[in-house]
Amino acid sequence: MMSRLIDYSGRNVLITGASSGIGRLLALRMAEKGARVALVARRRDQLEKVAEEIRAFGGEAVPLACDVGDREQVMAASTRAVEELGSIDVLVNNAGYGHHRHFLDWDLDDMERMMRVNYLGSLYFTKALLSAMVDRGRGWLVFIASVAGRIAPAEETAYAASKHAMVGLASSLSLEVEDAGVHVLTVLPGAIRTPFFDDEALARLPAVARKQMAEPEDLVDEIMVALVRGRRELTFPRWIASGYVAQAIAPGFTRRQVKKQTLVDPDGE
Ligand SMILES: NC(=O)c1ccc[n+]([C@@H]2O[C@H](COP(=O)([O-])OP(=O)(O)OC[C@H]3O[C@@H](n4cnc5c(N)ncnc54)[C@H](OP(=O)(O)O)[C@@H]3O)[C@@H](O)[C@H]2O)c1
Repeated sequence: MMSRLIDYSGRNVLITGASSGIGRLLALRMAEKGARVALVARRRDQLEKVAEEIRAFGGEAVPLACDVGDREQVMAASTRAVEELGSIDVLVNNAGYGHHRHFLDWDLDDMERMMRVNYLGSLYFTKALLSAMVDRGRGWLVFIASVAGRIAPAEETAYAASKHAMVGLASSLSLEVEDAGVHVLTVLPGAIRTPFFDDEALARLPAVARKQMAEPEDLVDEIMVALVRGRRELTFPRWIASGYVAQAIAPGFTRRQVKKQTLVDPDGE
């Protein structure tokens, strides 16, 4: 069963990572279309700013400061969102962060934290909000994963692992809940120009990748269209999806390409 998300009026949306980048733009876009939005992230001041932007055009937004890697905070934020808005129709699991780092130089605490924030945060929110969607026979789950969740680049071990986990969760869940009326969309973005890339990360990106960076507004356009069409997966920019075919039919070639493009020589040689 396919479920299209066309009309946002009267719908309640919860978006994690709504203080910046892709999450902020999605929140603004869905609110413009009439949704009431719960905005989740750690920085309360930034969430307030996004909420103000939404209220400025007559929309409704509830900022909820929460560390998505903390299970208790997620449960409390989910309860607050339902109290403030009523049942949640659309959950966007978007909060996350990444680093480019050699495995041996990567602090184990940060590797654990990345899994908690990027993967477990999505699992916690889904656990908190899915059963009510199933009971109502309607709902949408959007997982903002990454191309790194399907093709693992070098020097992104912890990040790729967290996004592979997220893609696995979303793909399996989609099979389980679609007949109950809950639609799952998995989004796999390539490099998008947002604060996700700090100066260090930008410097480590190969020049070709820097040139090919896509704009977050264009990704958000595509996500909105994917929801209208009831698509289950979106890779953006679309041409990257040809890499999945290449990986399946020419794994050795693809591996060499990915290694060449993503393994940065720490000495710059
Ligand atoms: N930009 C890209 O090239 C790209 C590519 C593929 C996938 N993605 C994915 O897209 C998602 C959004 O990234 P973005 O590009 O929009 O980056 P961004 O501008 O840095 O936004 C990240 C968002 O996640 C929130 N966040 C981070 N840690 C959190 C935590 N522990 N608890 C709650 N919120 C947390 C941040 O808010 P606070 O700091 O206020 O908590 C912020 O709102 C991420 O999952 C990222 O992996 C991005």
